[in-house]
Amino acid sequence: MFVVVAAVALAACSDEPKDTHPDQLVSKRRAIFKQFTRTLEPMGLVARDRKDYNPRELNISALELEKLSKQPWTYFTPDSNYPPTHAKADVWQKPAEFKEAQDKYLTTVSHLVKAAQGGDLDLIRPAVNDVQKSCKSCHNQFRNDAAS
Ligand code: HEC
Repeated sequence: MFVVVAAVALAACSDEPKDTHPDQLVSKRRAIFKQFTRTLEPMGLVARDRKDYNPRELNISALELEKLSKQPWTYFTPDSNYPPTHAKADVWQKPAEFKEAQDKYLTTVSHLVKAAQGGDLDLIRPAVNDVQKSCKSCHNQFRNDAAS
């Protein structure tokens, strides 16, 4: 069964298998991850001096990211490793490590919220950087490279 699905996925790379799970777990967590990117992006631009620093705006973005950052994990249920997921099997095989990666990430986000509230761009820059590194580090460990 899995072999058939994988073959279909390979045959039509751009046309991923549909999320047929009744609870749409993969689709739900992915939608939240996409919002991570959308929310983090403007802060990344500010940190790189490619966008003006507006303290109020950045504060709102940081709080929004904090809220989002608690959300995807509940959708990684034991029965949620199915196509079209890009998650590695390690998510389910090494749950303690996966939880640890979440906790590390959440810590960087709460530092960012504090930095945003402090309003000092010199502290905001490294805080944004740490969040981005933490996204990447979890992806290296738990997401397949083929993922967008
Ligand atoms: C604790 C681990 C972890 C952290 C932290 C994490 N991600 Fe991910 N991310 C994943 C996994 C696992 C997937 C694959 C989900 C799937 O396909 O089922 C993923 C998928 C994604 C996707 C692809 C969504 C799609 O439509 O396929 C994006 C974009 C993304 N993450 C952005 C981010 C950003 C931005 C951050 C940091 C702000 C972040 N992630 C933090 C584990 C993580």
